[in-house]
Amino acid sequence: MNIRFVPFLLVFLIWQPAVRGVDTTGQALPNVVILATGGTIAGSGATSTTTVGYKAATVPVQALIDAVPELKKIAAVRGEQVFQIASQNMTNDYWLKLAKRVNELFQQPDVDGIVVTHGTDTLEETAYFLDLVSKSEKPVVIVGAMRPSTALSADGPINLYNAVLIARSKEAIGKGVLVCLNDQINAARDVTKTNTSTADTFKSPDLGLLGYVQGDRVAFYRLPARRQTKNSEFDISAVDKLPNVEIAYGFANVSRTAIDAFAASGVDGIVYAGVGDGNPSELTEQALADARAKGILIVRSARAGSGIVARNNEVNDDQRDFVVSDTLNPQKARILLTVALTKTKDTKELQRIFYEY
Ligand code: SIN
Repeated sequence: MNIRFVPFLLVFLIWQPAVRGVDTTGQALPNVVILATGGTIAGSGATSTTTVGYKAATVPVQALIDAVPELKKIAAVRGEQVFQIASQNMTNDYWLKLAKRVNELFQQPDVDGIVVTHGTDTLEETAYFLDLVSKSEKPVVIVGAMRPSTALSADGPINLYNAVLIARSKEAIGKGVLVCLNDQINAARDVTKTNTSTADTFKSPDLGLLGYVQGDRVAFYRLPARRQTKNSEFDISAVDKLPNVEIAYGFANVSRTAIDAFAASGVDGIVYAGVGDGNPSELTEQALADARAKGILIVRSARAGSGIVARNNEVNDDQRDFVVSDTLNPQKARILLTVALTKTKDTKELQRIFYEY
């Protein structure tokens, strides 16, 4: 090496661990970026016992990080406030912004993992969207909290710590987008919010969780089987606006009003949250067929909460040219249809996609 470069090399060697942070053995810590989007994890209440009636999305990302000084021991963490919303206000446009930022960050070789802080109301949806469109096998962990940051026994700090532990771990590489609350790790595709208010709300009905965080140990027991992230065929890098897909809900005494209104409004697709095995009534089946005749794509999902929606069982999907959601719940089926419609409108292709993702 040219002797003139030695001082620069020395400066670099001293600077790099200082910037990255080091563990107790002097090893450089993994770099984890925390992308903050709002929610109860960033919420604040009037008193320490205010666990309802608090305001979500008020605490900025740096304050969330500062509240967990232990993070400095496990990762070189930096935060970005991508937006600051209660997650019931999530939109396709926010998703595009977030996903593009995730993909940009993963083009930086020194980013080892990403944590997204998020409201729990639509957390499962953002997780699945990122699972379909992020392009790296490096870990992405979505985390929220059921109690605001000001509450007694707030769950945000431990959830954030656990999320960073996972995001920095080699074990999480290639497992798709992960959701971690309450010490439990679930796959983005399978997880859903099952309880309005308790800390153990996130479950993967029937299919089960992937693993746990215990102490500083990240332990996986199962692998997600479906295509995701690096193996996904979807690319939103050039997409500025996502297709418009709505959900119509099935119930006794249902009318065709909602389906007709969606069709008249010019949607690209409708997911029907049918009863039982994703079944429409005679009336709503005809409404869906009429919408399909107008070029609107129809996916039959089920409001039951778990299980496969069977093709050509009580509905002749081949004749109607409908697609079935497999095990995706209606809100996840809406996301897969939205993303898939950026690529194809062919119903055979769409059915293949629903069986592969
Ligand atoms: C939200 O989803 O933004 C509010 C509720 C929560 O985070 O638990």
